[in-house]
Amino acid sequence: MKKWLDERLQTNALLDSLFSHPVPKQSNFLDYLGFATLYVFISQAVTGILLATVYHPSATEAYQSIKILQSSGVGTFVRSLHSWGSNFMVILIVAHLLRVFYEAAYKRPRELTWVMGGLLFIATLGLAFTGYLLPWDQEGYWATTVGTAMAGYVPLIGDFLVRILRDGTQVTGATLTRFYSIHMLVLPLLILVAFLPHFFFVLRQGMASTDELAQARERGEDIETRSLPFWPNVAFRMVLLVLLAGVLLWTLSFVYPKGLGEAADPLNRNHYIPEPAWYFFGVYQLLKYFPGKLDIIALVGLPFIFFVVLFALPWLDRNPSRTPRKRPVALGIAVLVTVGLVFLTYQGYASVPKPLSNTAVTHPSFKNDVAPIFQSKCLSCHGTSGNYALDSYQNTLKKDINRGDPENSKLVQRLEGTDKPQMPLGQDPLSSAQIQSIKNWIKDGAKNN
Ligand code: HEC
Repeated sequence: MKKWLDERLQTNALLDSLFSHPVPKQSNFLDYLGFATLYVFISQAVTGILLATVYHPSATEAYQSIKILQSSGVGTFVRSLHSWGSNFMVILIVAHLLRVFYEAAYKRPRELTWVMGGLLFIATLGLAFTGYLLPWDQEGYWATTVGTAMAGYVPLIGDFLVRILRDGTQVTGATLTRFYSIHMLVLPLLILVAFLPHFFFVLRQGMASTDELAQARERGEDIETRSLPFWPNVAFRMVLLVLLAGVLLWTLSFVYPKGLGEAADPLNRNHYIPEPAWYFFGVYQLLKYFPGKLDIIALVGLPFIFFVVLFALPWLDRNPSRTPRKRPVALGIAVLVTVGLVFLTYQGYASVPKPLSNTAVTHPSFKNDVAPIFQSKCLSCHGTSGNYALDSYQNTLKKDINRGDPENSKLVQRLEGTDKPQMPLGQDPLSSAQIQSIKNWIKDGAKNN
């Protein structure tokens, strides 16, 4: 068999080049965090495929399909594995990133391995973010409303981004379809595309911690006493770490199965407090330190700088040394950022979040955002003619709109119920995001746009 393969694919030479890197004796378990991340990713792929076989990706059926799944023990367990697994992925990939940073393994010649790793990091966060919405429960619905609203703070193209993410101005069934396809197709594909070179580089170059030995061997020194063979010693350490991650994942999923909250309610009648997923707590908590218009610094400025520095790091960091003691600045900054993020995440966890000042599109258009709300919720009574008509721009202006001042516009007061009777009369009130869209439109000058 081995011979058969070798004759066709030169596998022996390949295996040699892959596994002949000598590994230093003191190499520790942290070196294989990337491998553990890979294991959890494979587990996510398998459980994800299983979940996809019973999940109905539509706003009307998603919640019910998960509820049915949860009625079986196996179903609950698979979902719990997937849910815990997403947390494991985020934690492991961050730990892996920190290890690589600590050992300065991103430096020449491994710049591209690092950049690909950065893409994998973003794809992982994206997977966690998009997956949150899929059960269509309150938690996911509002986390998505808040998360997508954050994109709205980006200067100039904020509204555009929110529309793209939500496929509209609100989080609706269209958003669910969009997130489902991103979760199932786009991001897994990105992971594949980024992972192949990432992995290939590691195989060809060996880990950074092996460089010293490889150089010593080239100089003709005897490295036997300082090194370990890949097989079986190093492989054993890798498998042990994977086993550890696996046992922890399965135990947690078994002991703390994932529950299912209330179904998503865009009107939020039970006043669920919107909150992002825990890995966004840090950024969200930052909001509290940037009052008013400065919130853009927390939501856009700092995360933007973080990712630019992350991707440019191999070229920004000109210090050729890999010894931790000779890199005080880089390590100092890393420690500050890490401790800061952990602290903020904890604070965000322990305290009530500050609501976003705006979860709707900031500059809604009358035609695309406001008129459709009237159409679906008001025209049944208000009709298209007479004093009460609400069908056109001209007729809408008759509803006592104070351009630029939503609070003092009768239309808004009717919607919020400060002027009785509350509209839409005898029906469910508009969602807070819908009311906010109308308010933002008035604040913008109630233009015919
Ligand atoms: C079930 C029927 C019904 C629905 C649906 C309804 N309204 Fe009304 N609305 C009324 C009636 C009846 C009045 C007149 C009584 C009053 O002024 O209180 C009224 C009055 C109003 C007024 C004040 C009078 C005016 O026309 O200037 C506003 C503003 C208003 N509605 C806005 C809305 C908006 C916006 C919606 C959709 C979100 C809506 N209404 C949905 C029945 C309805």
